[in-house]
Amino acid sequence: MEGDKHEIAIELFRDFHLDAEKLQLIVNQFMEEMKKGLDHEGATVAMIPSYVTGRPTGKEVGKYLALDLGGTNLRVIEFELLGNSEFKVQQEKYVVSDALKTGDMSELCDFIAECVGEFISKHSTDSEERRQLGFTFSFPVNQTAVDRGTLMHWTKGFSCANAVGQDVVVALQDAFHRKDIPVQVAALVNDTVGTLMANAYKNPKTSMGIILGTGTNAAYYEKYENITKWKHDELFEDMVINMEWGAFDFEHAVLPYTAYDNKLDRESINPHYQPFEKMISGMYLGEIVRNVIVSLIDRELLLSRTSSTVLNKQWTFDTAYVSAILDDTTDNLQKTGNLLEKILEVPIETSLSDRQCIQFICQLISRRAARLSACAIAAVLNSTNQIKNNPVVSIDGSVFEHLPHFEDQMREALADLFDDDVAKSVTFELARDGSGFGAAIIAMMAHKKQ
Ligand code: GLC
Repeated sequence: MEGDKHEIAIELFRDFHLDAEKLQLIVNQFMEEMKKGLDHEGATVAMIPSYVTGRPTGKEVGKYLALDLGGTNLRVIEFELLGNSEFKVQQEKYVVSDALKTGDMSELCDFIAECVGEFISKHSTDSEERRQLGFTFSFPVNQTAVDRGTLMHWTKGFSCANAVGQDVVVALQDAFHRKDIPVQVAALVNDTVGTLMANAYKNPKTSMGIILGTGTNAAYYEKYENITKWKHDELFEDMVINMEWGAFDFEHAVLPYTAYDNKLDRESINPHYQPFEKMISGMYLGEIVRNVIVSLIDRELLLSRTSSTVLNKQWTFDTAYVSAILDDTTDNLQKTGNLLEKILEVPIETSLSDRQCIQFICQLISRRAARLSACAIAAVLNSTNQIKNNPVVSIDGSVFEHLPHFEDQMREALADLFDDDVAKSVTFELARDGSGFGAAIIAMMAHKKQ
């Protein structure tokens, strides 16, 4: 990058880079917020008890359905647990339209019930048999039993009416009744809890489940005595907590907000909510990149002051493009050029220095996301005294899986916070689409308990 571009690079680096000292401040604040969430209702990081207490052994057997709502697609899955840490699986994906995401909750539930009905007729020999289902519902739910919970608020582009404050399982179970589909919702599960349990079925040492995908969040096992807000009679050694960490820093106390982040937030459908998620997850990273590019065009510093209708429009810069640009190793960044000119329809021939600048923007924003994710992971592993104990963490989601070097950058941040040995000792196991499987396991555990 030459001339002006060098100045821009320095400015952007200053905006998006987080040094070791800043990381430590974020970790400290995060640990404080975890304590508050475990202590009382209504805290910023909600720390929701999931009612999941045991661990799977891998020896379980039986057929269970799972339903996964809250990522990119709706998935209906049937698992047959074979009892040797293995299973067979059949699944179908369905697209949830924007109209359903923002319409009435009963319409969304009818649609889900129809998809399950269709799945059963397609894959089952006995369509009369009553099935047990684990429902992965990846939104903040105030859980009141393993199969009960009310929606606290929507995240990630959903905003159905008549859902907040309602029991999600009742709403879905009613739809199954309306459509006469013989399914019993046996467990309501956050995707992070599912991801944790799915990996625990294979590797019982797993103590944390993380989603770095459309949204971001984590679940982990917390000791009974630390969950000071637990007021029920039930005793247990430890319980999985759904943290809802995407809400961290609602107070704007510690995260490094740039004007690009604030613009994204202001124009989102949930302004002020989920500030941490908005810096990390796949729903938002592309939009931050787009905000930076458009602002540099406005300042006459990029793409010869030329934009396009596509690039000017909110949400058009998919986070998959960020992955593609980061992956571009061609000499003159030809793939990046094609993306800008063909897909984003920028009507000029882009220069190499423009392409380099855009690749640099993607690097900064994706690296910041990795370092912030590492802060949250460090806070959990530190407060549970696992950091020096070779922790096993189960992770799923497109950001972790597809953004180049994301895992390495998380480890670099862990090394900045602790040291190289600690950074190397954390095992990240990719549990691809694990949340549905975890939900089926929890449904099985809940059904057996009955
Ligand atoms: C959002 C949801 C949370 C979910 C996460 C990942 O943060 O609020 O429940 O776990 O996305 O899908």
